[in-house]
Amino acid sequence: MDLMDELRSIGKEFKVELEGVGSTSGLDALRVKYLGKKGLVSQKFKLMGTASPEEKKSLGKALNELKVMAEGAIEARKAELRDEELRQAIKAESLDTTLPGKGPRMGRLHPVNQILHRITGIFTSMGFGVEEGPEVESDFYNFEALNIPKNHPARDMQDTFYVSEDVVLRTHTSPVQIRAMKKLAPPFRIIAPGKVYRHDADISHTPMFHQVEGLMVGEDITFGHLKGILETFIHTYFGPDIPVRFRPSFFPFTEPSAEVDMGCIFCKGSGCRICKSTGWIEILGAGMVNPKVFQYVDVDPERYTGFAFGMGVERIAMLTYGIDDIRMLFENDIRFLSQF
Ligand code: PHE
Repeated sequence: MDLMDELRSIGKEFKVELEGVGSTSGLDALRVKYLGKKGLVSQKFKLMGTASPEEKKSLGKALNELKVMAEGAIEARKAELRDEELRQAIKAESLDTTLPGKGPRMGRLHPVNQILHRITGIFTSMGFGVEEGPEVESDFYNFEALNIPKNHPARDMQDTFYVSEDVVLRTHTSPVQIRAMKKLAPPFRIIAPGKVYRHDADISHTPMFHQVEGLMVGEDITFGHLKGILETFIHTYFGPDIPVRFRPSFFPFTEPSAEVDMGCIFCKGSGCRICKSTGWIEILGAGMVNPKVFQYVDVDPERYTGFAFGMGVERIAMLTYGIDDIRMLFENDIRFLSQF
């Protein structure tokens, strides 16, 4: 076949193939096949070297025309395909603007915070101020000044997370008692709500939980005041007819100490699974401030007396809402949390 005929048939073939190309990537492949370094058109340029001067002229012209034609056609087709691909993409993404919108979901307080606010509200209405202390606490505040010396067996009661030899994650809010007594002059009454940490995890324990501490110090503060305040709290929170009882107990920082029970709110005292058939539910630890604690913070134990109490907030939240696994409170399942 004559070279010119060959070029013409390459041109024809190119046009046929171009028609069949349906994507920009297919188009790139076509460009490589014809115009790439080793492409069909590019290879013909190499024949120029062997052609006579006469042939060179007409061959060069024909080759150039073929190349320009192919380049132009590819560019034109590319623009078409791009438009088409864009149209398809827009169509696929098209929005139905008549659909109703998704409203933003309202956030709300975590159930534990809701309970914390309720408890705090009851005590502030009885004239208690609110104090705070650090969650990373020194051994002195968390134990020593609360009459729990090093190696005292009472330290076994609390599974402590140690940060270092003398620094712990506070195991209770009682260290805020010490901070409050250093900061405030009697008479005063405060509560201290906050997070506490213990190395413990099961259906009724999480490594972090919340407590509300209470402390009232003044002249002539008696166990009667303690009973009155706690009974008022329990009756305001759970209802006026709930029975309350104080059982002797032990805490190194209070003397005497008591555990406070209320009548089971589920079975009304007749005995059920929640109260383990006793009819009573324990909700507080409390007692009169141990004079030894006063000595650590330079409060005169001859002149002042006081009472302290501490309660677990998750426990009260569980009783309030009938939750039987404390861990649900911290799994952050929106379906669970949005019920409160
Ligand atoms: N700190 C005690 C606890 O965590 C509770 C408590 C506080 C007891 C104040 C008496 C007085 O178990």
